[in-house]
Amino acid sequence: MAKSKTSKAKKPKQSFDFGVNKKFPFDKYELYSDAVQSPSEDVKFYRDRYIDIRGRDLKPTVLREDFCGGGAISCEWVKLNKNYKSVGLDLDVVPMDYGRKNYISKLTDDQKRRILLIKKDVLTKNLPKADIVCAVNFSYFFFKQREILRQYFANVRDSLKPNGIFLVDIFGGTQCTDAIIDKTRHKNFTYFWDQKNFDPFSNEAKFAIHFKYNKKMYKNVFTYDWRMWTIPEVKEIMIEAGFKSTEVFWEGTARDGSGSGMFKKIEKGEACESWIAYIVGVK
Ligand SMILES: C[S@@+](CC[C@H](N)C(=O)[O-])C[C@H]1O[C@@H](n2cnc3c(N)ncnc32)[C@H](O)[C@@H]1O
Repeated sequence: MAKSKTSKAKKPKQSFDFGVNKKFPFDKYELYSDAVQSPSEDVKFYRDRYIDIRGRDLKPTVLREDFCGGGAISCEWVKLNKNYKSVGLDLDVVPMDYGRKNYISKLTDDQKRRILLIKKDVLTKNLPKADIVCAVNFSYFFFKQREILRQYFANVRDSLKPNGIFLVDIFGGTQCTDAIIDKTRHKNFTYFWDQKNFDPFSNEAKFAIHFKYNKKMYKNVFTYDWRMWTIPEVKEIMIEAGFKSTEVFWEGTARDGSGSGMFKKIEKGEACESWIAYIVGVK
């Protein structure tokens, strides 16, 4: 999940070699992760939502991370509790291999036994069963047609255990219907979130992540071509796909006006330039 309202992160459609290379003299996945991911916080949020919805007597065990990339969330889940297991699914073996080499290799032997990354299209049926499924960093925005998104949500619903829950994140705001570049300074690099366009006819937009590293600009390190789904659409499609109910959690605002990283359940949103929320589908 993105770290703040000004750091809505994402990942590339295409694969690149990982690690430092001629094209990028830095580890692009490491910079991406520093800029936009907070997996150790995310997994606690998922566990707490499950407990809030199902009560303390029912304990989640298996987390599935769809569109897992390097599987950072799956790694944090197995660290959270010695009984927890995780499975990550992604179409692309390159980020998964990166995750195996850089994240999974640092787990204990016991944790390694409880995690698996699998090359799989989330649009196929019979996905691995789980108590919690998450699809974050807006990855389902790849699916531009309602029918396809419903098919994906139905696959998730079918693969959830009887008390399962499904979490997705979403972003929006007036800024997202414009071409903008957002800049965030980090210790060793600067992160740029570039919204290249927005088409109100289709609600589609193209995005790119650039990094400034050692005073040099590296453009289009990750690129995305997405449909900007809205909260009511996602809620409706979850219900159409068979979820019993949905809940929405809205990110609070820090003193400096950026996102606080804290999410509260809401029944009504707030007009602003940029917002991030979670939508939870309850089986
Ligand atoms: C934006 S990245 C998200 C990575 C990670 N979830 C994160 O939080 O940073 C999107 C990932 O989705 C994967 N992907 C795209 N379409 C997919 C599909 N139909 N099934 C499985 N993975 C898919 C891509 O290969 C890519 O690694």
